[in-house]
Amino acid sequence: MEDCIEMILQDSPLSQQTEHPGVTACCGALLTGMYGLWSLFALPGLRRVPGKLKQVPYLPSSKRQTVNVMRHLRGRSGRLADLGSGDGRLVFAASSAGFQCTGFEINSILVAYARAKAQWTGLGSSHADFVKTDFWK
Ligand SMILES: C[S@@+](CC[C@H](N)C(=O)[O-])C[C@H]1O[C@@H](n2cnc3c(N)ncnc32)[C@H](O)[C@@H]1O
Repeated sequence: MEDCIEMILQDSPLSQQTEHPGVTACCGALLTGMYGLWSLFALPGLRRVPGKLKQVPYLPSSKRQTVNVMRHLRGRSGRLADLGSGDGRLVFAASSAGFQCTGFEINSILVAYARAKAQWTGLGSSHADFVKTDFWK
């Protein structure tokens, strides 16, 4: 009986797969790296906030959500604040529609990224500004 099972297993397609330890190690390293990168961006926003309010992780707005926000802003002008501005996508969208926008963000990496992007795209700080702060304090 045991011989029969061994024979069946030997013939199965699973046992015919060749092992590639290098590929497995690379995949593991890649996934660990991606998780590490994600943690850097997401974890600061997961700090405890006062009261019974939920924690706010970094979940950037989709293109559709950004368009919806801009639709609500249509016909308005002036100053705008994005509490928890992430990578600054809403700030950039609003400032391109003429708003003077300030993003408040707790995650210093995201703030640095947003500031670099603002500089890269030539937006002055009067149009798009980013402040590294905890908006609960
Ligand atoms: C759901 S994301 C939204 C990002 C961005 N507004 C967008 O629409 O793409 C929420 C952001 O709030 C930030 N955040 C969470 N708690 C914060 C706090 N207490 N003060 C400032 N920013 C905070 C997180 O780091 C995260 O980037």
